Amino acid sequence: MSRKIIAGNWKMNLNLKEGAELINAAEKYLAAKPVHHIDVIVAPPAYQLVQSSQLSKNERLSVAAQNMAAEEKGAFTGEISASMVKDAGAELVIIGHSERREIFGESDELLERKLKKALEHGLYPIFCVGESLSQRKNNEHFQHIENQLKAGLQSFSAEEVPQIIIAYEPIWAIGTGETASQEQAQEMHSFIRKYLGQQFSAAVADEVSILYGGSVKPDNARGLFGQPDIDGGLIGGASLDAESFTSLIQIGEEILR
Ligand code: 13P
Repeated sequence: MSRKIIAGNWKMNLNLKEGAELINAAEKYLAAKPVHHIDVIVAPPAYQLVQSSQLSKNERLSVAAQNMAAEEKGAFTGEISASMVKDAGAELVIIGHSERREIFGESDELLERKLKKALEHGLYPIFCVGESLSQRKNNEHFQHIENQLKAGLQSFSAEEVPQIIIAYEPIWAIGTGETASQEQAQEMHSFIRKYLGQQFSAAVADEVSILYGGSVKPDNARGLFGQPDIDGGLIGGASLDAESFTSLIQIGEEILR
């Protein structure tokens, strides 16, 4: 069975003090209201990874990097390596967020190498896929997601794939306040699960966590998390505020099955 997950992607937000306050609030919440079947993840900016890892003591709370290099080490100014992410205390890494693909031009080929490098170092990748508004309008969204999955996962074995968490984040729903409807999200999650079943096995399809991301908020999370193929959320804006993040954790614990 897949892990159920509430993950907060802080993007380029929050300073050290604000980051510490948010993690302390999550720790306090988890101590007062332990969660039993969901995992909580925070993805701070790289320079906060050490602090965030040191503050995240609850066994249900872990830390993810937002990106990492595909190379092992060397002359790559401005980059952070998989072993540095590990050394900072993080257990996971987001790979292929649409902002990395779109703004920083990260290609499918580069992302596949990043996924490989993460697994080599024992990091769990959160691999993001998602279509643009024009792709959806032209009814190309299923093909696009299939292409992204194929490019990222084709060289992995059925034993490796369950270590990868997939996040479906339609680009048109990110930071726009316009979330995919629960039907649209479920339809794509079910498509992704079927793809995993066909390419790998039914057991792999059952084991891989598929998160939804794109304007998830406490007031729409119940509907989304109640869908059978949605295993949790990758949350941007609403993860920056302790009150909305902890209420998303609470909704996750109640609704995700
Ligand atoms: P928002 O929740 O702010 O739409 O961001 C989603 C996202 O990109 C998470 O990775």
